[in-house]
Amino acid sequence: MGTLELNSLSLGYGDDPIVKDLDLTITDGEMVSLLGPSGAGKTTILKAVAGLLPPLSGDIRIDGKSVREQPAEHRDAVLVFQQPLLFPFMNVEQNVGFGLRMRGSITSTEKTRIQEILRLTQLDGLEKRKTGQLSGGQQQRVSLARAIVLKPSLLLLDEPFSNLDANLRQDMRDLVRQIRSETQITMLFVTHDQTEALMMSDKVGLLLDGRMRQFGTPQELFHQPADPDVARFFGAVNFFHGVVRGDLFLSELYQCPLPRHLDSGTNLSATIRPEDVVISLNGDRGRGHQVDATVRRTNFEGMTTRVWMSSRNHDIVALHPEQHFLPGQKVHVHFPPDKVRLFIPDNE
Ligand SMILES: Nc1ncnc2c1ncn2[C@@H]1O[C@H](COP(=O)(O)OP(=O)(O)O)[C@@H](O)[C@H]1O
Ligand SMILES: [Mg+2]
Repeated sequence: MGTLELNSLSLGYGDDPIVKDLDLTITDGEMVSLLGPSGAGKTTILKAVAGLLPPLSGDIRIDGKSVREQPAEHRDAVLVFQQPLLFPFMNVEQNVGFGLRMRGSITSTEKTRIQEILRLTQLDGLEKRKTGQLSGGQQQRVSLARAIVLKPSLLLLDEPFSNLDANLRQDMRDLVRQIRSETQITMLFVTHDQTEALMMSDKVGLLLDGRMRQFGTPQELFHQPADPDVARFFGAVNFFHGVVRGDLFLSELYQCPLPRHLDSGTNLSATIRPEDVVISLNGDRGRGHQVDATVRRTNFEGMTTRVWMSSRNHDIVALHPEQHFLPGQKVHVHFPPDKVRLFIPDNE
């Protein structure tokens, strides 16, 4: 069992809330990521769930029961920090068993469990090593092992891999997914890295300035951002600002039919991701609507080249697999309608 509900939760360190009116439900066995830039309030939320920060208002329920009055040590939630906080004078096995020892002497079943967890976190063979003699990745694995050995209802992970280099980070993501499939622990994972959030989670909540701006599946957040700010966070750079005329959305670079009736004159905006913008050197009439543009500059990024263009005083950015564009070159740009996201306000 491991469910978490946050109801109208407001959090802060003084009277002013930093996290405002947050609602979130995580069901048993689910892995949810809270994604947001630095300072968005992610750590603040984890601290409140773990019992290290009392809420200003609202409620936190773990397994259906309010924990507002419950001290941290009685909550069935374990927090893994960005920096592994290990005991340097203890070896790996002693660090991993620390929480269990605090609860009483370690039973033979628990000893077996420690061995299982050491295997799962790929620490077998390092049991007797002092933690000061471990690499950063190994230390973070000890920190994970120490948390999951306690079989918490909820595992709270606060950017646990952000101090590791790229390859190691990938290994740790795979490890957390494996831990999840073997233990079924419910996880709330915090990161500022959108790729990490998208690849690891069943659901993602995007937090901007202490507010949850969208909550949904990774695909929903990426392909159907709720508003331009969410889109921008996920790398959208091309925005068309336009207006409703009859049953059409009209902007200088792009127009399309509206999915439902809106009053003429309503201002709307739309966006397309840079990798979805199609550039061609010779106009392709079969493509439908195209605009003429001039290449301003390009930047080779490995798998793709970023191409900055301008058209009718608007900037367009595209990611293209080839690097054959030159500044000053005239090109044709096509925005495939199924790739354009039109933002329609709820109250319209
Ligand atoms: N102990 C504290 N006292 C006062 N303000 C704090 C404290 N910790 C964090 N804050 C402020 O709360 C906001 C959110 O911080 P935090 O939750 O750490 O963000 P994140 O983890 O998303 O980077 C920031 O503006 C930060 O300066
Ligand atoms: Mg933080």
